Amino acid sequence: MRISLEKAHQLLLSGHVVAVPTETVYGLAASIDRPGAIDKIFALKGRPADNPLIVHLANKEQISNYASAFPEGFFELADHFWPGPMTVVLPANKEMVPNQARAGLPTVAFRIPQHSLALALMEWVGPLVMPSANLSGKPSSTCKEHVEADFGSHFPVLDGGTCGHGLESTILVHKNGKWCIGRLGAIPPKAFAQVLGYTPVSLIEKSKPVCPGQFHKHYSPKAQLHLTDDPYGCSGVVVGFQDRSYPKASKVFNWGKLSQPQTVAENLYKVLRQLDQEGISEAWVDMDFPPEGLWLTIGERLSRASQRD
Ligand code: TXA
Ligand code: MG
Repeated sequence: MRISLEKAHQLLLSGHVVAVPTETVYGLAASIDRPGAIDKIFALKGRPADNPLIVHLANKEQISNYASAFPEGFFELADHFWPGPMTVVLPANKEMVPNQARAGLPTVAFRIPQHSLALALMEWVGPLVMPSANLSGKPSSTCKEHVEADFGSHFPVLDGGTCGHGLESTILVHKNGKWCIGRLGAIPPKAFAQVLGYTPVSLIEKSKPVCPGQFHKHYSPKAQLHLTDDPYGCSGVVVGFQDRSYPKASKVFNWGKLSQPQTVAENLYKVLRQLDQEGISEAWVDMDFPPEGLWLTIGERLSRASQRD
């Protein structure tokens, strides 16, 4: 249910949870000063208590209240990439960041989103703790209708239209003196080299991921996805490119052109959700795209989405 900025402000301050748009995906927001509302987020999503949430801020000045240390390079990263789809994990000021938001960790993840409604709301309410606005394990929400599909048509949504990026933020973690990628996202790893002087390496493949969310099932529609890098091998229901033909396909869900990874990213969760809306039980996904830039994130999300429990 669409609500005004005023209503969102009022609900958040009275300890309720509302959905808030960002430039990446919609978030399920609680005020950082309402621990009871933070508990509600975990209950609503069915989110495991060991998976911490991101603290969203309106401006860089607010961070000094909530973080206790700033590793080398942090301020340069913040100046260059905020507001924007970068999340940075820092040592927490434990007194200021509720334990359940951090899942008991001594660190906390921060982000300043680039969305005028989210920023206006946080200037008013203060920092918001928010995970993506989807049921745990399911594809994220990139529009109001997705949020309502997961949480009901009466769930309060600050409607900011369709999210521009369509993929979650890139998470950076500082380890052994260097910034590393904890989760691939809307900013490709190479883009950080212009600020850091090196491309952060990925910690995702390691047996013990640094972002607890990487342990859990994610982004999955009910439909079983079969990933293939042979477009001509795709048959039956196919998720693929507008400018490719799939001779053996009975139906194609197209997410855009191969030349436009940003459009594919924007459509990714919408297409995964459409499979479920149309009751599709299995689909072949065309993975024949280059392993670089935004495609790295798109490929990672699809690979996670195809995993069964
Ligand atoms: O774009 C985004 O980041 C969106 C929008 C709403 O801002 N949010 C989002 O939140 O994707 P969520 O909860 O779906 O994913 C947060 C990820 C999880 O993988 C979690 O484990 C990780 O951030 N995370 C949070 N706090 C952390 C910490 N202290 N250390 C390492 N990873 C952390
Ligand atoms: Mg999520």
